[in-house]
Amino acid sequence: MVEKPKVVLGVSGGIAAYKACELLRRLTESGHDVRVVPTEASLHFVGAATWSALSGNPVSTEVWDSVHEVPHVRIGQHADLVVVAPATADMLAKAAHGLADDLLTNTLLTARCPVLFAPAMHTEMWEHPATQENVATLRRRGAVVLEPAVGRLTGVDTGKGRFPDPVEIFETCRRVLARGVAEPDLTGRHVVISAGGTREPLDPVRYLGNRSSGKQGYALARTALARGARVTLIEANTGLPDPAGADIVRVGTAVQLREAVLKAAADADAVVMAAAVADFRPETYATGKIKKQDGQEPAPVALVRNPDILAEVAGGGTGARLRPGQVVVGFAAETDDVLANGRKKLQRKGCDLLVVNEVGERKTFGSEENEAVVLATDGAETPVPYGPKETLADVVWDLVVPRLGPESA
Ligand code: CTP
Repeated sequence: MVEKPKVVLGVSGGIAAYKACELLRRLTESGHDVRVVPTEASLHFVGAATWSALSGNPVSTEVWDSVHEVPHVRIGQHADLVVVAPATADMLAKAAHGLADDLLTNTLLTARCPVLFAPAMHTEMWEHPATQENVATLRRRGAVVLEPAVGRLTGVDTGKGRFPDPVEIFETCRRVLARGVAEPDLTGRHVVISAGGTREPLDPVRYLGNRSSGKQGYALARTALARGARVTLIEANTGLPDPAGADIVRVGTAVQLREAVLKAAADADAVVMAAAVADFRPETYATGKIKKQDGQEPAPVALVRNPDILAEVAGGGTGARLRPGQVVVGFAAETDDVLANGRKKLQRKGCDLLVVNEVGERKTFGSEENEAVVLATDGAETPVPYGPKETLADVVWDLVVPRLGPESA
């Protein structure tokens, strides 16, 4: 019988502890052996009975229970993944400084497996330099620390500090576990990913759009997060759930996308343009709904060119990168002469890598799978066989990592 992967779910004392019940359920139902290690304070929010019943394992907060089993060492030593969710400011501080005054902090010191923190706290606490330095320390040591989401906090206030969707945290756990003991190789890196398809409005109810679902861009964001990156995901009209830990910027049109990409790219180590950007937009926007006129043919729609965002970032034509040393990746959706067109496009756009895939009525758009060839400026071609969009995303990061320049401070 194959042994179940062992996960330690550390729960620290924040109101989001109740959301960790959903994370626990997902983990157990997908075949993980989960040992919940709550802090004493967290039991004010969710009691030990809940954790015990949902995990099917004993629950203890401190090192003095079952001492003969040496739990303060064993639990950490045997884990394949430790996920602390929610992680409070206090927990991050303790972990960063190596304190060990309860079972969870002892476990963090003895664990040699990947460790994932999902912080949740009020915005002020998250933004405090003490917390930020603790987070940086933990990341530097190889932990994956997710950025909290932006949204409603405990009271009436909103801001950054919200616990990300537990389903999305579960997805990150799955990815971090799948990577095993591999170091998160995008730690300390800021990556910008565009996803989805732009919509160019004609009037208040109509637009010119495309069939991009955004799933490939989201797969890139999720895999980058599991590899430790700080991710800015610029999404255009996807309607997909926010990946846990990404900073999300929502845009509608190509012009808005350009503005968001240029802003985020200013301090980014890599930019991946997975979005399908409309090449043209209607020249005029009718502020009222365009009505048909009896007996008249429709007026032609005049179009104007949209900016080429990828070429601008990559320096296509000019050879001048917006940010020298930045790795720039483009996507090319082609219906004919796929590779030949891809090679031309790689050169024209000036990017380092171009992911070329064939699109058509039933190919790629909206599907969970993809097949592509990644072209590089040095002539290398990396074919990625038909498979999950996540697999292609990981291949892209595998090719980006060796091309990254030295880490900026
Ligand atoms: N792209 C962009 N800005 C545009 C158009 C495309 O940044 N105005 C980016 C896309 O995000 C993608 C890449 O360029 O990464 C290639 O997109 P594609 O639509 O295949 O290329 P086009 O430049 O539109 O080329 P063509 O119309 O000749 O196929």
